[in-house]
Amino acid sequence: MFTKLRSFGLFGMNAFPVTVEAEVSQGHPQFDISGLPDIGVKESRDRVRSALASIGIRFPKGRVLMNLAPADVKKSGTSYDLAIFAALLAAMGVLPIQMPKSIFIGELGLNGTLHGIRGAMTMTMLARSSGFEEIYVPRENVQEAAVIDGIRVYGIESCAELVGHLLGEHPLTPAPCISPESAVPPEDMLDFSDIRGQVKARAGVELAAAGGHNILLVGSPGSGKSMLADRIPSILPKMTREEILETTNVYSVAGQLSKTQPLITARPFRAPHHTVSAAGLIGGGSIPAPGEISLAHNGVLFLDELAEFDRSTLEILRQPLESREVTISRAAGTAVYPCNIMLVAAMNPCPCGYYGSPVRQCTCSRKQVQAYLGKISGPLLDRFDLHVDVDPVPFEDLASQETGESSAAIRERIEAARDRQRERFRGTDIYCNAMIPDHLLGELCQMDESTQMLMRTLHDRYGISARTHSRLQRVARSAADLRGSDRIERQDLAVAAQFRGFDSKYLK
Ligand SMILES: Nc1ncnc2c1ncn2[C@@H]1O[C@H](COP(=O)(O)OP(=O)(O)OP(=O)(O)O)[C@@H](O)[C@H]1O
Ligand SMILES: [Mg+2]
Ligand SMILES: [Zn+2]
Repeated sequence: MFTKLRSFGLFGMNAFPVTVEAEVSQGHPQFDISGLPDIGVKESRDRVRSALASIGIRFPKGRVLMNLAPADVKKSGTSYDLAIFAALLAAMGVLPIQMPKSIFIGELGLNGTLHGIRGAMTMTMLARSSGFEEIYVPRENVQEAAVIDGIRVYGIESCAELVGHLLGEHPLTPAPCISPESAVPPEDMLDFSDIRGQVKARAGVELAAAGGHNILLVGSPGSGKSMLADRIPSILPKMTREEILETTNVYSVAGQLSKTQPLITARPFRAPHHTVSAAGLIGGGSIPAPGEISLAHNGVLFLDELAEFDRSTLEILRQPLESREVTISRAAGTAVYPCNIMLVAAMNPCPCGYYGSPVRQCTCSRKQVQAYLGKISGPLLDRFDLHVDVDPVPFEDLASQETGESSAAIRERIEAARDRQRERFRGTDIYCNAMIPDHLLGELCQMDESTQMLMRTLHDRYGISARTHSRLQRVARSAADLRGSDRIERQDLAVAAQFRGFDSKYLK
């Protein structure tokens, strides 16, 4: 008998439809899969055989042919197992032949249990938008799939369960639709109240978080740069529904969701070590997988000890930082991963760490200092909207009994500033001030005459680039939002300029 069922494949962030055609006929015993399957797909034969055995059904005696259409697209991975299994049973006459509105995805284990697969969320989205009525996914993937409404999602534990359901013997109920924004963010985070003094650096970090701006912290060892950065997750604004869906989708495709973390509801904070490879940072592999920059999507990528990173690795960041997506081309096709991130970096000003320090003498030669800072190229430096000199904490601050302001209090101001931004950008795909495209700057970051005069002064004095100009506008927009004002005033641009490193003793 001949039958066909629907499944999906995955390339990059995109699912694509695959029809599994099955034919069982008399003849020489054989089991073949055609349609450009790779090893993982071919091995599906063994898994399907033992899955059949697990539910007590004998493998058919004759010829079993499977074709994965379209036959000219390479198929890889293990997600076709479930469709192959169900198509075989249908062709054997055990299951109904016609299931044109159903999608089957999942990997079979030898005892007939189902293992999770990558990309279940994007596959469910495609299923819904293509007009399918139901999708069968491994139980492990049911939460990410159930976020998509308008389609019945069945989480399947084993192939026995699927057969019982399709035969109507033990019908399953579809998973209830999950509303991701109802999730509560984790509580146990490092808190800003641990940080003493550092008034200016704290203000810089707050401003950066308010608008999603990139920030570079420069200072001597032990001044608290890592400490500041590690506390950023505690003040980041809540994720919106769209952001949760987008970021969860990246983790789904990367195979990084788990039972304990089925959805990404708190902004990611990724801090790769400075030995990370270019592929690890940006993404790569023969079937390109997302890198750290995409795993930080809608959150923070923290590069501690920035100058220790391989220079060429850092340079690859430049383009994705501007376009907010990474394009990886391979023979098999081109994958595009989102990377809408806030970049946070920390570094010492020189090899010994004490250049410019008020408390200790730097022992480096001028050349050494220049070579050290020179590891960060001008164009990369330019992409940090805020440059903050982190000075050593004075004794009085350390000895004082007073604790710093708590993360909860800072976060409240940041949420208010983000509310203003969400209102401003309603109906667009802009989420925060850092994302305002150049062509909308004039409209969204209007400056009065006196503010424009200050901008002119900055131009005349520091000869700033066009990129710096527009970055100043965005940061000034955030400073005004933090003040609770729709109008950008001279003081806002002054704050932005103060954090732009024009006076930095390190980066001048
Ligand atoms: N402002 C501060 N308030 C309280 N403790 C601080 C402060 N700054 C630094 N410390 C203490 O100093 C330690 C070192 O700080 P941290 O690791 O953040 O320094 P760093 O600037 O990252 O140094 P390095 O350049 O060596 O990486 C912290 O663990 C903390 O105990
Ligand atoms: Mg550090
Ligand atoms: Zn030095």
